[in-house]
Amino acid sequence: MNILLIGSGGREHALAKSLKQSKKCENLFIAPGNAGTALCGTNLLVAITDFEQIASHCILHKIDMLIVGPEEPLVKGIVGYLQQIPELKNMAIIGPADNAAQLEGSKAYAKIFMKHHGIPTAAYKKFTQESYKEGVEYIKKHSLPIVLKADGLAGGKGVVICQTHIEAISEFELMLLKSKFGEAGKKVVVEEFLEGIEMSVFVLTDGENYVLLPEAKDYKRIGEGDTGPNTGGMGAVSPVPFFDETLKEQVIQRIIQPTIDGIKKDKLEYKGFLFFGLMITTKGPYVIEYNCRMGDPETEVVIPRIKNDLVDLLLATYNSHLSDVTIETTDQQAVAIVAVSGGYPGIYEKGKTIYNLQNVMMDNSTIYHAGTKYEGNEIITNGGRVLVVTSFADTIEEATFKSNYILQHINFEGMNYRSDIGYEFKN
Ligand code: AMP
Ligand code: GLY
Repeated sequence: MNILLIGSGGREHALAKSLKQSKKCENLFIAPGNAGTALCGTNLLVAITDFEQIASHCILHKIDMLIVGPEEPLVKGIVGYLQQIPELKNMAIIGPADNAAQLEGSKAYAKIFMKHHGIPTAAYKKFTQESYKEGVEYIKKHSLPIVLKADGLAGGKGVVICQTHIEAISEFELMLLKSKFGEAGKKVVVEEFLEGIEMSVFVLTDGENYVLLPEAKDYKRIGEGDTGPNTGGMGAVSPVPFFDETLKEQVIQRIIQPTIDGIKKDKLEYKGFLFFGLMITTKGPYVIEYNCRMGDPETEVVIPRIKNDLVDLLLATYNSHLSDVTIETTDQQAVAIVAVSGGYPGIYEKGKTIYNLQNVMMDNSTIYHAGTKYEGNEIITNGGRVLVVTSFADTIEEATFKSNYILQHINFEGMNYRSDIGYEFKN
């Protein structure tokens, strides 16, 4: 099969590596990819939202399967766009249609969906410019802390947790009246703060059945000990030690099954990955958010743990044969650590030479590329998150040690990473 993967992060490098290992994969293309995906297949210089160019490449390279990594093209309707093109009617597309992608694309939509289908989530109310004054009154009476969420995609920055009413009202004004998040903030969800431990679960679904993939815990804050601003993710572990059979059953019964049933009842067209961001509270698991794609860096610990052929899994998803599939996983601990550019998640520079990438290896460790590109024969930085090192070992401690060891030997100007990933699970 000829396969095209859309995206350019560590997630796409990890997916590309697994796709390439499949016996069914003849030619792999990645658009636009990075210096790492270039080792798995052919990078195509196409923007992820240039649907016309993507369609032309699908026709030119006789693509049999297209997989969409990031959310933006999904929310903007890439699936529907490609489905309408007669030459591509037999191409298997992995990703939800735009109506289903709204589960991530609109927080207000996701909340209504959860309420409607009885899925546990924080209590909330939605406001627009028209209901601004009512919103201020609502906030004044709200318990603290208060969570404010821009409705649309805001690059992972649209959630603000406010410790005081004054702060919340000022943030609310910035979002709704001063366009802090542009279009994404035209609606704002004001939400109850949930106390607990976060983790994520993932499924592949055909809109009717699903298979549960390995779970993960992501480390979102920039600083060690979970301090400082939020990022796209600084590291991840899988499996998650506290995700025992009891919790797993609760998550399936209260969250995953009703979500899949809701997708079917609401006639949402969904063939792809669905990511549940959860808060595990004393009252059980709650959904913080849905994402209509895999996580990054969660993919870099989840996908390498799966022993099944990835192309077979995706074909079963596309052909609605998921009820025949059993997921086989390795039991070893996987730990991913992300190396980021100096200044990230704020302003950072690109174009720094990365040294020693090829010289450092360890058994059962992989260096995934995120924001990297070739300049001549050199690999240079090309984004905030630059590299992701995943290691496998019997314990989280050992796996973290290995990923740290590799990163200690790699260098680029301003490089920063968290050496404490998985810290709460160490003895
Ligand atoms: P999101 O962009 O929806 O993933 O939110 C970013 C982060 O904000 C989450 O990973 C949580 O740490 C936090 N968060 C979001 N909603 C809530 C909530 N209702 N209660 C507590 N923390 C939250
Ligand atoms: N690491 C969080 C995400 O991919 O949304």
